[in-house]
Amino acid sequence: MKTDRKLIAPSILSADFLHLEEEIVNVCTAGADLIHIDVMDGHFVKNLTFGPFIIKQIKKISSVELDVHLMIEKPDDWIDVYADAGADYITVHSEACIHLHRAVQHIKQLGLKACVSLNPATHPSVIEYVAKDLDMVLVMSVNPGFGGQQYIDSVNNKIRYLNDLRKQNLYKYLIEVDGGVNADNIKTLSKLGVDVFVAGSAIFKEKDYNETIKRFRSLM
Ligand code: DX5
Ligand code: ZN
Repeated sequence: MKTDRKLIAPSILSADFLHLEEEIVNVCTAGADLIHIDVMDGHFVKNLTFGPFIIKQIKKISSVELDVHLMIEKPDDWIDVYADAGADYITVHSEACIHLHRAVQHIKQLGLKACVSLNPATHPSVIEYVAKDLDMVLVMSVNPGFGGQQYIDSVNNKIRYLNDLRKQNLYKYLIEVDGGVNADNIKTLSKLGVDVFVAGSAIFKEKDYNETIKRFRSLM
């Protein structure tokens, strides 16, 4: 899965929901590599967002793959539903999975990219026994649930750990960082080994998505 290309994944949590179709088409045209979709259930995190019906519609208009981040309890019960809705990447939280190995295998058996997310206080060693099967590790750099929060600096050490683990074992997973990513930290993150940059407010608050994504790419 590891590619030399760095990917930008706009998080539509910060998009204008009254014009969601336009927003998605515009970020795709501006050069987004993935559309990041935050699914929240009001239990694992204190917020509610998109469900499978909306994702099914997004799938019809997105020209890039869908990166579906499940911030929900019992994600195993929902993997088939989100696969059917059109997810290309499915991320489950390690904290929400009692049977993480089974969840990862389930996603892979559906032919999708299997990804595991780690909250800021979760030690990255929790992925060790599934690491060889993972397509991506999502490092939460804010506490999940809301856009527009500040990047938590201590997460840099976790990215280093995951990059070293990958190098030492020739694992293929991508490292994705999610939360507080912006033009001020993207260069540092890229050097630490991040491959996929999720950015919500830093993209959608700008007028010109094309210019913003171009700027990000020049810093990566
Ligand atoms: C937060 C979500 C993020 C969020 C990031 O729980 O997982 O994807 O949209 O938003 P920003 O980039 O504004 O921190
Ligand atoms: Zn997310």
